[in-house]
Amino acid sequence: MDRIRITGGVPLEGSIPISGAKNAALPLMIASLLTDETLTLQNVPRLADVQKLFHILANHGVDTSFQGKRSGEDQLAGQTVDLTARAIIDTCAPYDLVSTMRASFWVIGPLVARMGEARVSLPGGCAIGTRPVDFFIDGLRALGADIEIDRGDVVARARAGLIGNRVRLPKPSVGATHTVMMAATLARGETVIENAAREPEIVDLAECLIAMGARIEGHGGATIYVDGVPRLTGARHRVLPDRIEAGTYALATAMAGGDVTLEGATSEHLERPIELMQQAGAEITVTNRGLRVRRNGHGIAAVDAETAPYPGFPTDLQAQFMALMTAGNGTSRVTETIFENRFMHVQELVRLGAKISLNGQTATIEGVEELRGAPVMATDLRASVSLVIAGLAARGQTEVSRVYHLDRGFERLEQKLSRCGAQIERLSS
Ligand code: UD1
Repeated sequence: MDRIRITGGVPLEGSIPISGAKNAALPLMIASLLTDETLTLQNVPRLADVQKLFHILANHGVDTSFQGKRSGEDQLAGQTVDLTARAIIDTCAPYDLVSTMRASFWVIGPLVARMGEARVSLPGGCAIGTRPVDFFIDGLRALGADIEIDRGDVVARARAGLIGNRVRLPKPSVGATHTVMMAATLARGETVIENAAREPEIVDLAECLIAMGARIEGHGGATIYVDGVPRLTGARHRVLPDRIEAGTYALATAMAGGDVTLEGATSEHLERPIELMQQAGAEITVTNRGLRVRRNGHGIAAVDAETAPYPGFPTDLQAQFMALMTAGNGTSRVTETIFENRFMHVQELVRLGAKISLNGQTATIEGVEELRGAPVMATDLRASVSLVIAGLAARGQTEVSRVYHLDRGFERLEQKLSRCGAQIERLSS
């Protein structure tokens, strides 16, 4: 298994191109199941999760073809992919495929909407807490699907098609909003999704669906209106920039010090994280190339953070923010409100010399003068990158093992950081 070795203490200087968002690319790829025409997605990141989903979609009958690179394109630029589900050859998503990635469960929405049936394995356990699918099941039932659980699979049937209805989500779940919205595009009549997630990735999916002929309003707000249409068409859509990747490199720069431009990053998707990073002492400015992050000379102030659904502070940046706070001048509190048990990084940060105590969903971090490099283990996607951030500032060498977690969601992380001067390398074994 590959490891990443970092020699800390080098400020970051330069620019990092921000990739297309993983969390937008996945639902957009799944949307290709809704039409027999070609959906062309640009700026698709090269990530293990994306590859896995190509594989899962191929099982349902989606043909995928990658368009070649144009001359002059940056080697870190995203790929353009044509996805065509001319015919759905299998409405079944088996356990061995779904268990590797929770988002693949979302195929249930388009499959039942287009084919009148779907059998999708319940996603397996996940390291960041129990992540049930009750909102998906209740949402699809409200649209008229018959749903039963059979041998660990969710079986959804709507032979005569789905029918629009009011769906009120108990919490603004990202996955349930994507799934119900996709299903509702082909339902008869109007669906109103209340307490919908408002994340930029929801807006990106809605815009792509609209380009495919769907009738959707209100996306980006808490109530989404979908007026069903008999069929959708092909379209061309560009995946939005990854706000979590941008926020991660912004935090890395705040941690290591230096001056980095995050090319293509959008400040409006990062308002709350930017506010907190500025309070912590980073200078962040919007330029015509993206976001410029600087921290030169002065220390890191201790700042509290609490995760919340968008536009609140994202749970996907919680671990990275905590890494920054380990070097804060004073004591800060980081509270996780979205997932229970999303503190697996704490014990690894402690191995680097951080002082963190946990009480329920709140971590109290007492800033230390200096972190010291050590071997640490990645436990999940975002937790693992928090260890890289800490390693960039730690004295000596940090070796992060189990980096397959990183490869799920960070495209060419070592190249992006090393072109800003970081001493980081991948060790293959
Ligand atoms: C998505 C993101 C993930 C991010 C999360 C929250 C993708 C691929 N993943 O995950 O990176 O951390 O949003 O921003 O986009 N819940 C239920 N029942 C359900 C569904 C959800 O109780 O049927 C709960 C979850 O346990 C959690 C909360 O709702 O407490 C929010 O989860 P959700 O927004 O659904 O997360 P995901 O879509 O899985």
